[in-house]
Amino acid sequence: MSATARKAAPNAEDIRARKGGEPLVSLTAYSTPMAKFMDAHCDFVLVGDSVGMVMHGMTSTLSVTMEMMIMHGQAVARGLSQAMMVIDMPFASYEEGPQQAFRNAARLMAETGAGAVKLEGGVEMAETIRFLVHRGIPVMAHIGLTPQSVNTLGGYKVQGRDAQADAVLADAKAVAEAGAFSVVLEKVPQGLADKITAEVPIPTIGIGASAGCDGQILVVDDMLGFFTAFKPKFVKRYADLGQQAEAAIAEYAAEVRSRSFPADQHVFADKAPKKAATGKGSAS
Ligand code: KIV
Repeated sequence: MSATARKAAPNAEDIRARKGGEPLVSLTAYSTPMAKFMDAHCDFVLVGDSVGMVMHGMTSTLSVTMEMMIMHGQAVARGLSQAMMVIDMPFASYEEGPQQAFRNAARLMAETGAGAVKLEGGVEMAETIRFLVHRGIPVMAHIGLTPQSVNTLGGYKVQGRDAQADAVLADAKAVAEAGAFSVVLEKVPQGLADKITAEVPIPTIGIGASAGCDGQILVVDDMLGFFTAFKPKFVKRYADLGQQAEAAIAEYAAEVRSRSFPADQHVFADKAPKKAATGKGSAS
């Protein structure tokens, strides 16, 4: 389905039904203007907890709070009318057990209007996913490299090579069986990502995985070149807007210092101009 042909935002079941079809397109967003730019082009937009690193300068996602997710979720919701919004459950908002997860997932959905939540974890989160889904909360799972577990994974490493492959496959099967409507595969080797995509009945969304996944997601600040602290191998830079922004700011600073900005067209005359014949007001 082309972006222009779509009328209403898809829901979780629409996304699930895209298994094996045209690849699902997704990006993260954290603000209203960015959400507006991507609304017509994405099937779903993720309010990712990557917000902590790309917008707030945190060194990991671990300090992201419910309040931050809700504030950014509300901002993104104001920019979307065609794409579905999925929102991340931040670290420590769901791991205690199904009841805690339900309370916080319900709050995220009620206060932001998101159509689903995403949470990290495989086999160990299956019980929680089942509990949420049976109580009306669509869940997107996230396996492979799960950044909230960076401290126990020993860093932002590829997950699923060699002897690890069976465990990642088991994670994918467990979250699908528990009722997740889709699953993000982050930093999973290509062959394993293809095997998971072939073996689970729900769409796989790759990030650093395989073009054979049922969809792809990237962090928007990575692909636009706003976030430059580091660049994972799986990021393709489609633009260098960070560099452009810095050049524009440098030009502005130079013009202020040389008094060439503001120029005549940016300032206001002391005498009010005569009203134009059309009767319309003037901004000058
Ligand atoms: O928080 C995030 O941006 C994510 C994506 C990388 C999938 O979880």
